[in-house]
Amino acid sequence: MKVALVTGGTKGIGLAVAQALLKDGYHLGITASSQASIDQAQSALANLEDKVICKLVDVRDYAAQHAFAQELLSKWGSIDVLIANAGVGHFAPIDELSAQQWNDVIDINLTGVFNSVKSCVDALKVSKGYIISIASLAGTNFFERGAAYNASKFGLVGFSQAIMLDLRKYGVKVTTIMPGSVSTYFNNHTPSEKDAWKIQPEDIARLVTDLLHMPARTLPSKIEVRPSIPPSAK
Ligand SMILES: NC(=O)c1ccc[n+]([C@@H]2O[C@H](COP(=O)([O-])OP(=O)(O)OC[C@H]3O[C@@H](n4cnc5c(N)ncnc54)[C@H](OP(=O)(O)O)[C@@H]3O)[C@@H](O)[C@H]2O)c1
Repeated sequence: MKVALVTGGTKGIGLAVAQALLKDGYHLGITASSQASIDQAQSALANLEDKVICKLVDVRDYAAQHAFAQELLSKWGSIDVLIANAGVGHFAPIDELSAQQWNDVIDINLTGVFNSVKSCVDALKVSKGYIISIASLAGTNFFERGAAYNASKFGLVGFSQAIMLDLRKYGVKVTTIMPGSVSTYFNNHTPSEKDAWKIQPEDIARLVTDLLHMPARTLPSKIEVRPSIPPSAK
C-alpha cells in the first residue's frame, strides 16, 4: 500500500493531483484550511472513504500538521509521497501591502511547506519516498505587486532545492514544480471557458504521476511548466 499526503488537496491543483493519485492506487490524506472546501472535496471523492482522509489542517499549524502525519502513519503504516501544494496569493504594491497579507503569504506558502516537510521527513526516509513542492514561475520571475508572493515562492524554490540535496542520500526524492497560469480557484478566481489557454490542473497532476513513475536512478529536480500559447504570445 502506498500513501500520499496532499496539502491543499480540496480544489484546484491539489484536488486534481489527489484524484490522479487515487487512480494510481494510493491511499490519501488531504488537507485544507476551510470546512467548506473539505466538504466539497468529500463529495467530489464520495465512495472512497476507505482510501481518503480529508482533514481541516492549516499548514501554518505545525502541531496539527504533525498530528495528521502521525494519524496516516498509524492507520496505513507509511507515508510515501508528500505533495506540498497549499498556497495563497495577495498581490499589492509594497505601500499598500499589509503586514497581515505579508504574514499570510509567507506563513502559508513558505513556512507551511517547512511544517509539512518536517512532519513527514522521518517517515519519508523510512519509505524512501518523494516530496513534490508546488512552487511557481513567480519563484524565478518577479513582477509588480508581487512582493509577498515572489518572496514566498523564491524562498520555496531555494528551500526545496536545498532539501533535495539533504535528502537524496537517504533515497528521498524532491522535485520543485514551477507552474505558470493554471485554471484554478487561486486568488478568488473562478475557472471558466476563458481559461482554455491556461494549464489545466489535471496537466499538473499528470506531471506529478509521471515523476512518480520515473526510474529510481533519475531525479528531475526542478521543472518550469507554462501555457504553450499565452495571450501575450498571440
Ligand atoms: N493557479 C495558478 O495559476 C498557480 C500558478 C503557479 C503556482 N500555483 C500554486 O499552486 C498551489 C495550489 O494553488 P491552486 O492554484 O490550486 O489554488 P486553489 O484552487 O485556491 O487551491 C488552493 C488549495 O490550498 C488550500 N489552502 C489554502 N490555504 C491553506 C492553509 N493555510 N492550510 C491548508 N490548506 C490551505 C485551499 O483550501 P482552503 O481554501 O479550504 O484552505 C485549497 O485546497 C499554490 O501553492 C499556488 O501558489 C498556482
